[in-house]
Amino acid sequence: MSIADQLHELEATARRECESGPASERPNLKVRYLGKKSRLNEILRGLKDLPDEERRAVGTLANQVRDSLTALFDGAAGEVTTEAPPKFDYTLPGRPVTRGTRHILTRTMSEVIEIFYGMGFEIAEGPEIETDYYNFGALNFPPDHPARDMQDTFFITDEYLLRTHTSPVQIRVMEKRRPPVRVLAPGRVYRSEAINARSYCVFHQVEGFFVDTEVSFADLKGVLTAFAQEFFGADIKLRFRPSFFPFTEPSTEVDISCLLCGGKGCQLCKHEGWLEILGAGMIHPNVFAAVDYDPKVFSGYAFGMGVERIALLKHGINDIRLLYENDLRFLKQF
Ligand code: PHE
Repeated sequence: MSIADQLHELEATARRECESGPASERPNLKVRYLGKKSRLNEILRGLKDLPDEERRAVGTLANQVRDSLTALFDGAAGEVTTEAPPKFDYTLPGRPVTRGTRHILTRTMSEVIEIFYGMGFEIAEGPEIETDYYNFGALNFPPDHPARDMQDTFFITDEYLLRTHTSPVQIRVMEKRRPPVRVLAPGRVYRSEAINARSYCVFHQVEGFFVDTEVSFADLKGVLTAFAQEFFGADIKLRFRPSFFPFTEPSTEVDISCLLCGGKGCQLCKHEGWLEILGAGMIHPNVFAAVDYDPKVFSGYAFGMGVERIALLKHGINDIRLLYENDLRFLKQF
């Protein structure tokens, strides 16, 4: 085959391969057909050994083939690169990824659960829509108790209501289980209260209770003291004030030494030196009767605390509404 024919054939093959061969091969064609080791380059290098007449003709043709293939490959290579992602500056700093944080209330709830879980409490939950029986009746509320009033409770029907505390979970758990039961029941509760800096119509409680033979008030004090020192700090002191709940006897309200003044008296504690954090007591025999536990055999304690309240106290927040307004400037601080 004459050199000229070889050049024609070479060009035809290269074109065919570029136009109908696999796209992934295209970037390599230039090296293969025009590179140092290519047949075309060999021909060009051999020109000097050809007789004058032939050198001129072959030289012109070889240059034409080289130019047309260069244009073809550069065009084809261009096609390929437009399919690739656009070039960008790798040295530019990355876009910051904004990470969310857990809501301060969720975090407080988890902290409380974690502490009691460590002391052997199981976690249980109950429905937010409750019956009058679980929310009041089984918990020894008399029929005319003021908490049953429309002013305090969101009733749905005469029978159904939004639970006003997590204590109904005591009944639901004890109905199904025999002692020993050591359970923690966190959840949302509702009260028909005027909204202000200290109270909201919806909030969270953590209920805890332990029933076994020979559970005493001392056990209650021990567990609550351990919790408060873990949650608020080892220096915290507790005060147990006599109180009243229909479902506990005796009943107590528990205060912690003021987090701001340490007990000397300041605005936060209204110069009392103490801050109330929860209600508690020994489970009332009438409650045991409702779940068919023998009060002569079993005894137990129960406590219930407001999660918002302890979150506000721990973090020095002065308005409960901030927890529900979703203002990121506030939430991002935690
Ligand atoms: N359920 C009570 C309340 O909401 C708190 C409490 C729980 C008191 C358990 C005693 C025992 O105020």
